[in-house]
Amino acid sequence: MNLFDVYPLYNVTPVSGKGSIITDDKGQEYLDLYGGHAVISIGHSHPHYVQRLKRQLDQIGFYSNAVQNPLQRELATKLGQLSHCDDYQLFLCNSGAEANENALKMASFQTGKSRVIAFHNGFHGRTSAAVAATDNPTINAPINQQQKVTFVPLNDSAAFKKEVEKADVCAVILEAIQGVGGLDEPTTDFYREIAQSCKKNQVMLIADEVQSGFGRSGTFFGFQHHGIEPDIISIAKGMGNGFPVGGILIHNTIPAKYGMLGTTFGGNHLACAATMAVLEVLESEHLIENAQKLGVYFTEKATGIPQVKRVKGRGLMLGLEFDFEVAELRKKLIYEQHIFTGGAKDKHVLRILPALTIGKEQIDLFFNALKTVLQ
Ligand SMILES: Cc1ncc(COP(=O)(O)O)c(C=O)c1O
Repeated sequence: MNLFDVYPLYNVTPVSGKGSIITDDKGQEYLDLYGGHAVISIGHSHPHYVQRLKRQLDQIGFYSNAVQNPLQRELATKLGQLSHCDDYQLFLCNSGAEANENALKMASFQTGKSRVIAFHNGFHGRTSAAVAATDNPTINAPINQQQKVTFVPLNDSAAFKKEVEKADVCAVILEAIQGVGGLDEPTTDFYREIAQSCKKNQVMLIADEVQSGFGRSGTFFGFQHHGIEPDIISIAKGMGNGFPVGGILIHNTIPAKYGMLGTTFGGNHLACAATMAVLEVLESEHLIENAQKLGVYFTEKATGIPQVKRVKGRGLMLGLEFDFEVAELRKKLIYEQHIFTGGAKDKHVLRILPALTIGKEQIDLFFNALKTVLQ
């Protein structure tokens, strides 16, 4: 049987990883500044992560949500503490799209309405309502187009106000830093205006923190740079450091009802162990602080490179904007310099999403390589 050919692949076959280094089947080492789309948060094969997962697997890997699973409660407590989001309830699922799907569904249940406001260049996943709220017609099939979604330009107050005041809106969904789109951000004023308008119009504010959450932006969640309180927060990616796990944090003001949400795999024992390991390492190695500091260091170094037009993002969720398309540059970085980087919908932006454990030496190594390939 052939694989369904939907991915254009680089010709590299990783066989092992340690921290920010990946080794391929020929023994060649690569510096990983992309973490497989922002997934690797505490580094490849972190010893604590490996040990916790192995230990869990020796005990029990999975049982469904029909029985008590104390690991889920332990995880909810730890997540509440570290994120300073104690006023929320946790529902666990398996991916970012599923998290947003559940978030949008909750918003619709809670408000009894169904239209969604999303933003130009936003990305929220590839499933039903999540893909409909994603600004990319090429991945939106006719079946998804049945959802009612209105796209508004980011930071356009007038356009937003006009839509949010209509009576049928259940949710506004946005990223604190647009990942796939190319690292654009709402201003603090705009994010606060969104939060206020949502309250005023009985609309649920969904913070999509799938990519920007779990410390990547230098605070636990990206929206925390703006001092607002969303109704629902969606999480995934860095949460499991490679183990497929997602979730939503639902504000305590929103009541749960049996059967309202559900999943077979979500919140299983292994997923909880992986997420607990990530939280423990984020805390013990002060990785959120490291993300903040190293982001500043990276930005300082980038501003010294004449070809870089602009440095975008925060913490270790960064983009370098050039006045040319970066596809060839990425190829040179991977094949000649052995460094993994990412692209974005904005083809001029090189995305940098390293593990939050990264150090200055590895950033120096990247900039030396970048200077070489830009010559
Ligand atoms: C902000 C954001 N939301 C949702 C998703 C979808 O996550 P997943 O691929 O785990 O379904 C992504 C994936 O890139 C994302 O960046």
